[in-house]
Amino acid sequence: MGRVEGKVAFITGAARGQGRSHALRLAEEGADIVAVDACEDIATLEYPMATEADLRETEKLVRERGRRVLARKVDVRDQAGLNQVAADAVEQLGGMDIVSANAGICGCRPTFDLSDDEWQDMVDVNMTGVWRTVKATVPHLIEAGRGGSVVLTSSIVTFVGAANVAHYNASKSGVVGLMKTLSAELGKHRIRVNAVHPGNVATDMLFSESTLRVFCPDLENPTVEDLRERARGGDVLGQGWVEAEDISNAVLYLASDEARFVTGISLPVDCGRRIG
Ligand SMILES: NC(=O)c1ccc[n+]([C@@H]2O[C@H](COP(=O)([O-])OP(=O)(O)OC[C@H]3O[C@@H](n4cnc5c(N)ncnc54)[C@H](O)[C@@H]3O)[C@@H](O)[C@H]2O)c1
Repeated sequence: MGRVEGKVAFITGAARGQGRSHALRLAEEGADIVAVDACEDIATLEYPMATEADLRETEKLVRERGRRVLARKVDVRDQAGLNQVAADAVEQLGGMDIVSANAGICGCRPTFDLSDDEWQDMVDVNMTGVWRTVKATVPHLIEAGRGGSVVLTSSIVTFVGAANVAHYNASKSGVVGLMKTLSAELGKHRIRVNAVHPGNVATDMLFSESTLRVFCPDLENPTVEDLRERARGGDVLGQGWVEAEDISNAVLYLASDEARFVTGISLPVDCGRRIG
């Protein structure tokens, strides 16, 4: 019996990285998966987003784990698109129990060099996109009356602060506020709401050229190994980063009934970065 056997999990940003990892980990533990991703680049970002081929790969990998999957190309800024895939999930998979609002973007620039468009895209995807995701899904959980677990992806940056990510930090801090209010409102429906706060995670976001430059501003062509050396010094376990699966295991715990009395918390998975 899997730890989320028979449940249905709605996951945004599921085409690659942490979102794909969450989909596979939850599927391995018995959940059917709704995998949502925009699969479109965003003009204000310096690194590419996932592709439709990535989303199809997630779909295939979930199927290989013996679970049902509904994969859909939808942007978390598109409320009508999210509403439609949530309604289709209820019809085709028999409801939803777990929501992982994971889709997110990152950028790095000194605060007063940020363009209005950079600020707006960050807030629209990372904060308002999370709100749109819960708006599309949680009413179905309430209506079904069988409780549920909502996990919002924030970031360790909300604890430690960091230069050159004002728009990112503001958007991820907004997610924490949303998590706290939702956990207060939804407890009476046995729906728990928590946030996971990843530290550095080995995904395309961390390994993008723009992030490498932030960690190694003094190097002309910084590499992933340069990043590893710099990042190691930033956490008490001397790791530098964790794997996507480490975040998925935290999401799995929060999603499962093992966390049945856990709501309204911020769970860092950061090798102790915030205390180092
Ligand atoms: N990688 C890190 O070091 C790190 C650290 C802290 C927090 N996070 C957060 O973890 C989450 C997952 O990031 P990741 O590390 O897997 O990065 P990633 O770039 O590999 O994956 C992000 C996914 O979200 C999708 N996406 C982006 N904008 C979207 C939109 N508007 N609508 C739907 N899908 C969209 C992308 O296509 C991609 O598949 C993000 O919220 C990120 O902010 C990452």
